[in-house]
Parts: sequence; C-alpha cells; structure tokens
Amino acid sequence: MVNSFSNQDRNGIWDRRTRFNEILDERNEAVSDVLFKKIGSPHGHHFLDVGCGGGGTTVRMANSVSSNAHVTGIDISESIVSLAQENMKSIKNVDFILADAETYQFGTIKFDGVISRFGVMFFSDPIRAFTNIHGAMREHAFLTFICWPPRQENAYFYTMTEAVLKHTGKEYRDTGTEPGPLAFSDNAYVESILNSSGFSNVSIETVKTQLSAKMTPEFDAGMHMEYGPSSLLIKDAQPDEITKKKIYEELLFVCTSHQKGEYVSHDALISVVSAIS
Ligand SMILES: C[S@@+](CC[C@H](N)C(=O)[O-])C[C@H]1O[C@@H](n2cnc3c(N)ncnc32)[C@H](O)[C@@H]1O
Repeated sequence: MVNSFSNQDRNGIWDRRTRFNEILDERNEAVSDVLFKKIGSPHGHHFLDVGCGGGGTTVRMANSVSSNAHVTGIDISESIVSLAQENMKSIKNVDFILADAETYQFGTIKFDGVISRFGVMFFSDPIRAFTNIHGAMREHAFLTFICWPPRQENAYFYTMTEAVLKHTGKEYRDTGTEPGPLAFSDNAYVESILNSSGFSNVSIETVKTQLSAKMTPEFDAGMHMEYGPSSLLIKDAQPDEITKKKIYEELLFVCTSHQKGEYVSHDALISVVSAIS
C-alpha cells in the first residue's frame, strides 16, 4: 500500500490542513500548554519550530524567549507557509522557511532549541531528518516535540478511527513506524531514532489532555471527514457515497457526544519527547 504521506505532499494532506488551520490551532492550544510548560523560558538567540504549520507555536515560542531572540518555522507545505507568513508578518522576531526539514541546509546559525507540535512524524527517513536537525543545533541545545502514543491508548484516535471502521467493514491496519501521525507511537523506536541521530538524554512522558474548540459537532464531523485520523481511513477505504454518509453520521454522533456547550472537546493522550543535542 502506498503511504499517504510524502515529502512532496503528493496527496494534498497538508494543503487540506491549511483550510482548518485556525480551528486546529484553537483545538491544540492545550497541547501547546504542555509543550511550553516543558520548555519553560529558555535562554538563547535562535530557535526552530519543525513542521510549524500556520505558525501558532512559532509565535508562542517567540513570546516565551527574550525579545531579541529569533524563532524560525520550517514547513514543507506551500499553502501553510504562505498562511503563516501572511498572518505573522507584523511579528519581527519570527520567519518561515518553505522547505523539507529532512534535507534543508540550515546554514551557519546554530539553534539553541528546537520544538515541534506534531510536525516530526512524517519524515521518509527519520534518522536522516534528525541528524540534519541535530547538525543545525548548538551542543547541549534542547529538542522537545509532541507526538501521538498508540491508537488503542488514545481515546481520540481510537474513537475516531473505530467510527470509520464500523462502516467500511475493514480491519484496522497497524501502520507501525511508517511516516504518519502514529509513526512515533513506540517509545523505544523514538529513543533509538534520536540516539542514532546524535541526541542523548532522551525522555518521553505521556500526558492526558483535551482537544477542545468552539465549533458545532457538524463542523467537527465534517472536518474529520477531510482531515485527521478518520480521514486517512476513509481515503484508504474509498467508500461509496452511501457509506460515506453513514460514516459522517457516525462521526457526528461521536462529536455530539463530546459537545460541551459551544465547544466540542475530545479526551486525548499525547507524548512529550525531550532530548539534548
Ligand atoms: C500535523 S501538522 C502540525 C502543524 C503544526 N505544528 C501544528 O501543530 O499546528 C504537520 C506539519 O508538518 C509539516 N511537515 C510534514 N513533513 C515535513 C517535512 N519533511 N519538513 C517540514 N515540514 C513537514 C506539514 O506540512 C504540516 O504542516
């Protein structure tokens, strides 16, 4: 089976993500809280946000460091980098690079810290990517990123994917370490990747959080048809229109059951990975 993720965004996944950037940023704010609590207020002059998306975390990083420090966001999606550049153009100490973090030549500046919120699980060759990132860091600089733990431990992933499988009649295919949202769900694998890329002092903790945003269950169900764990299974199964409608109704049922007033709020588990260069 061909993997949906590629360093060229062949399948338009990241371009589709751009359409939902604002709501996803809101939904992932509690995830950012965990990330930024972990790194505190780091000292240094140059920081990097890998797979930065629309730049929400890049700007939050800029606000967490001294005002004369600079934060660079790097992302492979042209549409998301354009959006980040447009939205953040009045902010002086951030910039955005449209490039593949796996191969980009970062130049002579050495980063004092590197962060990522869900932006590092899609490399075609993770050791090459992290070795490249490691080469752009000062000695003893920090790397802290968020990724997803296994599907069956994560209520959000499990519920959303089961809602689809119920109607496609397919078995869940474990994607193992293939590039994708769950590629780093095995802690031993993550640790070995980082050690092989030159990092040390790897630590991984699992944290409970909530993915919460002000939206209707209808909007959330519609978004899950197009982006996120359920959408990947829909794409793989290629259901007919009647089945698609049933999947939407199922997702709507799930999202409605997670409605809290004007918000939809999913329980989720995230992994916080830290290492030193
Ligand atoms: C799940 S999104 C997370 C975006 C953002 N960090 C956030 O939390 O909103 C993953 C991001 O990683 C980017 N990405 C995937 N592969 C990449 C690569 N090889 N180099 C740089 N960015 C990449 C995608 O374009 C996408 O914006």
